[in-house]
Amino acid sequence: MSKQSFDTNKSWDALLRLLNLIALIVICIIIYIPVKPSIDRYMNRPRYNKEELKKMSVARSQELSNDWDRVEKGIHVQTGMVYDSNFKHIQSHCLSCHSSKLITQNRADRAGWKSMIRWMQKTQGLHDLSDSEPRILDYLSKHYAPKEVGRRPNIDMKELEWYLLQG
Ligand code: HEC
Repeated sequence: MSKQSFDTNKSWDALLRLLNLIALIVICIIIYIPVKPSIDRYMNRPRYNKEELKKMSVARSQELSNDWDRVEKGIHVQTGMVYDSNFKHIQSHCLSCHSSKLITQNRADRAGWKSMIRWMQKTQGLHDLSDSEPRILDYLSKHYAPKEVGRRPNIDMKELEWYLLQG
């Protein structure tokens, strides 16, 4: 090998090495850009000592328990149910298995509510409500009675005559 070609090879080597380095830097930048916000967030995360954490958790639990009792415009805020003197019976007997939504989205008269309660007792493991039952029925039939009939009565599906569309 002549001296000149040896030098050329060497400079090719150096150039390739430089290109490799540039490629490596570019790849690093490409990876860094999307990851940067996460890194920043981690580096700037709020740091609390034990005392502060304890204070925060006490404040939060107070907030939650205040919320539990809060009543606004006659509505118990946490459950969205009407608040009156019988509400506590609902609170202690009806909200342990399912949300209040299941109750508030239903409407029935006293007999209807009673049969829903019997159904839950028979099939869903609802306990005996003893003295609370009449209070609960008072409450439900008062506040969650059937809505007044609107412009037209609901369609009675059983009375409908069905027919097949001919294609
Ligand atoms: C032991 C658990 C339990 C308790 C306590 C309980 N329920 Fe239920 N209830 C259920 C289950 C389970 C269902 C069915 C849930 C479903 O279909 O997703 C249900 C369904 C319902 C429904 C919907 C019925 C329907 O036909 O859609 C209403 C309304 C209801 N409960 C009201 C009450 C009331 C009022 C009380 C308090 C007297 C009560 N529940 C207490 C278990 C319970």
